[in-house]
Amino acid sequence: MAKLSAVLATTHHPFFYKATELTPTAEQIPQAAEWKAKVEAYRETLTAAEPDILVMVGADHFHQFFADNYPTFLIGKQPRYDATFYNEEREFGIPKYVLEGDEDLSGFMFKGLLDRGFDFSISHELKIDHSIICPIITTRPAADLPVVPIYTNIFAPPLPSPKRFWDLGRAIREIIDEYPTDKTIAAVGSGHLSLELGGPRQFGETGPDPVFDRNAIDWLSHGDIDSILQNVTFESMSGAGNATHGFMDLILMMGIAGRIEAAYVDELDLFHTREMYMTWYPEGDPR
Ligand SMILES: [Fe+2]
Repeated sequence: MAKLSAVLATTHHPFFYKATELTPTAEQIPQAAEWKAKVEAYRETLTAAEPDILVMVGADHFHQFFADNYPTFLIGKQPRYDATFYNEEREFGIPKYVLEGDEDLSGFMFKGLLDRGFDFSISHELKIDHSIICPIITTRPAADLPVVPIYTNIFAPPLPSPKRFWDLGRAIREIIDEYPTDKTIAAVGSGHLSLELGGPRQFGETGPDPVFDRNAIDWLSHGDIDSILQNVTFESMSGAGNATHGFMDLILMMGIAGRIEAAYVDELDLFHTREMYMTWYPEGDPR
């Protein structure tokens, strides 16, 4: 059976590469050096887990799916995936990638999800955006591992509930545990803490809701799904920022890990968002 060696949940920030690599040192934002150091330290938590395959969770930012036909949950099943859309190159300086896929695990995962009551969409022509490429840049910049991409709807209401994201994480975990292989799998997903995009609370001194961020990191790091389900609703997330619903992808990652303590928790307050870097080791800390 497969070994699940690590589960990573992180915020994704499309400006990271531009801010720390493409901008000359003298022109970088004051947090650039600390930001890069934190990301490099976080990367070690994945490297130490020695994965052979990455199950990656993200969400399409209206690049190929739109409000008229937005899949609630979707898995890619392809030999390879093109990545990075033109606006991401233009605005964020994110490079193009071609990621290798793992069609066998995608197919096993798809069937296993259907068997567990998750009626996924499947795509054979999925293109990856920065929700998956940002964590590739931060945690596996060599981009040398096959991936199984899972996309969720955190953008086009009505959205699935926080509990549904937790349950989906639990189902993904069962399927990974049952996958007949001697390979080692890591799960890497990105989302958000409180976040405002294009609204009146964008680009403030902190993220739009520092209290939500504090609670969110606390709940996630302790595997505390009960507190999340008591406190987090579509409405409460909307109150914390118009794009805070990306938090549900972090709940999903905690679902893959289970009710365990995170082995690694770090964060960084940028000028308009709090970044979070979290890792669980379901089978023990390899470091
Ligand atoms: Fe994003």
